[in-house]
Amino acid sequence: MEWAWSPLFWFLTIFSSTILLLFHHRKTSGPTRLPPGPPGWPLVGHMFDLGPMPHHTLAGLKQKYGPVIWLRASSKKTMVVQTAKAAEELFRNHDLFFADRSINNLMTSHNYNKGSLALARYGSYWRVLRRICTVEMLVVKRINETVPVRRKCIDDLLSWIESQAHGEAHGLHVAHFVFLASFNMLGNLMLSRDLVDPESKEGSELFEAIMGLMEWPGHPNIADLFPWLGWFDLQGLRRKMDRDMGNALRIASGYVRERVKERQARSDVDHGGGGKRQDFLDVLLDFEGNGKDEPEKIPDHNINVFILEIFMAGSETTSATTEWAMTELLCHPKTMTKLKSELSSVIRPGRKMEETDIDNLPYLQAVVKETLRLHPPIPFLVPRQAIQDTDFMGYHIPKNTKVLVNTWAIGRDPECWSDPLEFKPERFLGSKVEYKGQSYEMIPFGAGRRMCAGIPLAHRMLHLVLGSLVHEFEWELYGGITSEMMDRREKMGVTVRKLKPLIVVPRNIVR
Ligand code: HEM
Repeated sequence: MEWAWSPLFWFLTIFSSTILLLFHHRKTSGPTRLPPGPPGWPLVGHMFDLGPMPHHTLAGLKQKYGPVIWLRASSKKTMVVQTAKAAEELFRNHDLFFADRSINNLMTSHNYNKGSLALARYGSYWRVLRRICTVEMLVVKRINETVPVRRKCIDDLLSWIESQAHGEAHGLHVAHFVFLASFNMLGNLMLSRDLVDPESKEGSELFEAIMGLMEWPGHPNIADLFPWLGWFDLQGLRRKMDRDMGNALRIASGYVRERVKERQARSDVDHGGGGKRQDFLDVLLDFEGNGKDEPEKIPDHNINVFILEIFMAGSETTSATTEWAMTELLCHPKTMTKLKSELSSVIRPGRKMEETDIDNLPYLQAVVKETLRLHPPIPFLVPRQAIQDTDFMGYHIPKNTKVLVNTWAIGRDPECWSDPLEFKPERFLGSKVEYKGQSYEMIPFGAGRRMCAGIPLAHRMLHLVLGSLVHEFEWELYGGITSEMMDRREKMGVTVRKLKPLIVVPRNIVR
C-alpha cells in the first residue's frame, strides 16, 4: 500500500483531522460547559494516551478531574463516568437520554449492528428484541425448563477435567474448558445442539469464526479515529472481521434453514399445528409482530445475528469471570477452604451441585460478587450514546456523545469499599449489595434500560460452573507458581480477561 505513505495522503489526513479538531473545540466554562479532561493531542485526541488498559488509565485520572471526564478516544466526543454517585445520576435520572449505543467501524461488518440487540439504536426494533429476550427466553420459567441442558454440559465439563485429573499431572487451561462448556450450554438453548463436538464440522467452524469476532474488536482501530480512513483498512482488521462475520453468518443461516424445513415437516405431520416450541430459535421464528411499530416477522439476517450475539454475550463473560474467581481462590487458600466446606455441608456426599443449591450457598454467592466487583469482564459496559443534548451533573453533554461507565474503577472506589483492592467475599455476607442494577457501586452487568438481558441465566451459569469445579476437585497452581508470583495482568478483547491464562492441576477428591 505505497499510496499510504504519499505526501497527498498525509496532507489529506492532517487537513481532515484539523477540521475535525475545530469541530471538537471544547468549552469548559459558561452555559455549555463540558466536563473536565486531560488535554488531547492535536490529531489523535487521547487515542494513544489511554494505553492498553484504558479502564486503569482513566481510573488514575479520577483524582485530578473528578467523577466525570471528557475526552476524544475515537472520532467521537466521549464522556467517562467514574464513580458510583455519577453512575446513579446517569442511570436513575438520565437513562433515557443515554439509551442509544455508540457503534464502531467493525460492528458494521455485514450489517451486524442492524440486526443486533446489544448494539441496536434505542427504538422500536430494540424494544421488540429486548422483550422477546427478557419475556420469552431469559425468564426464570424458561431457564428452569432448561436445567437438564446445563446439567449435561456441566457433566461434560467435569468429565473432560476428570480425564485430565488421572495419571501424570499436567496443567489445565481452566478458562478454555469453561468457555467450551458455556458455548455448548448456549448452543443448546439457542439451537438444541452441542456445537463443540468433534463430529460437527460446522460447529467447529462457527466456534473458530466467533473466536475471531471476539478478537478483532479488541484492537484499537484507526478507522474509529478517522472514519474516512475506514475505507483503506490500514490494519487489515475490517478484512478479518468481514471474513469471520461472513463465515459465522453463513453457518448460522444454514442452521436456521434446516430448522425451517424441520418445522415445515413437523407442521405437515401435525396438520398445521407447527409442532412444539423448543428453543430460542423457535421463539424467534414464531414471532409475529403487529406490522406497524414492530416488524411482522424477524428478518432472516437479524435471526442469524441474534444467534451469534447470544454466543458472544454469554460464553466469554462466563469463562473470564470463572477464570478470575479460580485465580483469586487459589491465591487465597483460606477462602477456598471456606467455600469448599460450605459446598460440602450443603451438598450431600454422592450428589453433584445443582442449580437449586445456589440459594443455600451464600458464601459461593459472595465469592462470585467479589470476583465481579474486582474483575468485571466488560469494564466500560457496552458504550452508550446521548440521544439528545442533555444537562448532566452541571455539564452540557451534546447529542451523539459516546458514554463509557468505568465499572472497573467504581468497583475499586475507596469511597464505596473498605480495603477496595483486597479479595474479601465476607464483605457481601449479610449485605444488600447485588449486581442487578440497583446498587450503583457494583454494576458489572450495567443498569437501566440497556442493562444485561442475560442476568438470570448468567447468575445460574456462573454459580453452577464455579461451585461444581470447586466441589468436585482439589486444585493446585501448575509449574511451581505461588500466589505471590501470580501474573495478574489483563488482556483487552471484547471482554477483559487474564493476560496469562490460569494453568492449574486438578486432583480427584477422595471422599
Ligand atoms: C458474566 C456474565 C455476563 C456479564 C458480566 C454481562 C455483562 C453485560 C454488560 C455490562 C452489558 C451492557 C449493559 C449496559 O450497557 O448497561 C450487557 C448487555 C447484554 N448482555 Fe450480558 N453479560 C453477561 C452474560 C450474558 C448472558 C449469559 C447473556 C445471554 C445469554 C447476555 C446477554 C446480553 C444482551 C442481549 C445484552 C444487550 C442488552 C441491551 O443492549 O439491551 N449477557 N451484558
